[in-house]
Amino acid sequence: MRVPLIAGNWKMNGSLALVEQFGQAFGKAALSSSMDVAILPPLPYLAAAQTAFEKTPLRLGAQTVNPELSGAYTGEVSASMLAEFGVHYVLVGHSERRSLYHEDDSAVLARAQAVLSEGLTPILCVGETLAERDEERTETVVLNQVKTVFDTLDAQQRQHVVIAYEPVWAIGTGRTATPEQAQAVHAAIRDCLADYDEQMASTLRLLYGGSMKRENAAELLAQPDIDGGLIGGASLKVDDFLAICQSAG
Ligand code: PGA
Repeated sequence: MRVPLIAGNWKMNGSLALVEQFGQAFGKAALSSSMDVAILPPLPYLAAAQTAFEKTPLRLGAQTVNPELSGAYTGEVSASMLAEFGVHYVLVGHSERRSLYHEDDSAVLARAQAVLSEGLTPILCVGETLAERDEERTETVVLNQVKTVFDTLDAQQRQHVVIAYEPVWAIGTGRTATPEQAQAVHAAIRDCLADYDEQMASTLRLLYGGSMKRENAAELLAQPDIDGGLIGGASLKVDDFLAICQSAG
């Protein structure tokens, strides 16, 4: 049985006031105890969020990390620093990091390894562009992104990864993959994971991301291989995010 995970990726949005608002709303929200919920705020808000979320079911996540432990890397943060603030999940390979900050597959792998070495959970983001989908290369692209990381991790590490399938053409565009399109890719990812280890494949959580909102969350989450969501825009409004969490629980 896979426990659903709903993770809100605030990107470079939000404020201290929004952190407080989420802390208050989730402090009194009735959520199923058999689900995980996380907010990934911008890094400067981690300390405030750690306090504000203390008496809520919200776990903390980070949107990026540097693969090195420490050193002369101006502007960067390490996984051990994130761990000190109670961070549980760390995004690696988000399409915005891949395209805007040129993080290639080896950079994504190094980040996943750094996150795992601190006992945190990487959320490995994978997804095809519209051109790749039109060329019918979706599976090839997505499975390659998965394999680049999974080929190098050991059996123990693989179990601790969460994968988020996020078609690039659906991120922030209001255009969502249909439940059938998303399910097809999720099933292909799970089949690919089964080549490493069937037990791991059946327990590893696969999230969908890309314009998931309160109106479409339930039917996406009802798909057999969709175990949660990575939510961008709709995670900035507390009522919308709560509604999405409630449709997963
Ligand atoms: P979106 O973003 O929900 O705004 O499409 C998802 C993401 O980038 O993780």
